[in-house]
Amino acid sequence: MTPQIEAFYDVITGTFTYVVHAGAGSACAVIDPVLDFDPKSGRTSTESAERVVAFVREHGLRVVWLLETHAHADHLSAAHYLKDVLGGKIAIGASIRIVQSAFKRIFNLGDELPTDGRQFDHLFSDDEHFSIGELGGEALHVPGHTPADMAYRIGDAVFVGDTLFMPDLGSARCDFPGGDAHALYKSVRKLLTLPPDTRLCMCHDYPPPSREPCWQTTVAEQRRDNIHLNDAVSAEQFVAMRTARDRTLGMPTLILPAIQINIRAGALPEPEENGVRYLKIPLNAF
Ligand SMILES: [Fe+2]
Repeated sequence: MTPQIEAFYDVITGTFTYVVHAGAGSACAVIDPVLDFDPKSGRTSTESAERVVAFVREHGLRVVWLLETHAHADHLSAAHYLKDVLGGKIAIGASIRIVQSAFKRIFNLGDELPTDGRQFDHLFSDDEHFSIGELGGEALHVPGHTPADMAYRIGDAVFVGDTLFMPDLGSARCDFPGGDAHALYKSVRKLLTLPPDTRLCMCHDYPPPSREPCWQTTVAEQRRDNIHLNDAVSAEQFVAMRTARDRTLGMPTLILPAIQINIRAGALPEPEENGVRYLKIPLNAF
């Protein structure tokens, strides 16, 4: 069955959130929902999430999965909030445990952060099958950007997370803890062995002024046109390009708040005795 896909674009972080369903009244999955965060005031808000809630309610959909492609560094996850409002199981790749351990060290978190992935309702292994009502899905482990990245194949569409970007932008960075450009090359080659007309749905787009944000491309287009990972690029060429480019990139604006929330499956830290929740800023760690 061909899934119906609704894409929501967050202009501030360039993130696409998806609702994948089989028509009005069906089960659905929400992929990579955004919790709005203003770093100047430290305030979270749910305008982006409410757009998803409104769509789900308007179409009578039943949320069965809240799928994260990875622990994002550029935006906070609204999965925890949406689970409260709409239900569904929060899932991510099983290697999130590696990511939790790495950031537990960096943020010097104690027992409040177990690193066995228990904050999530389900941890996917590579090639694990799942269902969204009548729609069949498959979780694909695609490490490289982080060790825990997953892509989700649902019908003829693959939600690629931070592996590929649109062909004119290329690929995701590989310099976060546990990132590996060799691994990303292998992961992308695996995705690009899928049938040429497979739809590839981006996690992000950062469009140049000459075009609008775009969320969908195909395997054939990526193999022909991707500026970093078309069929003519070798692993050695990609790794050299990616490594050099990553050295020039600053950290994402929201990496410090986002990671602390996202390794907790979108839950905020417990309040301190004055009722206020706090995040940490490690100095000179990045
Ligand atoms: Fe990312």
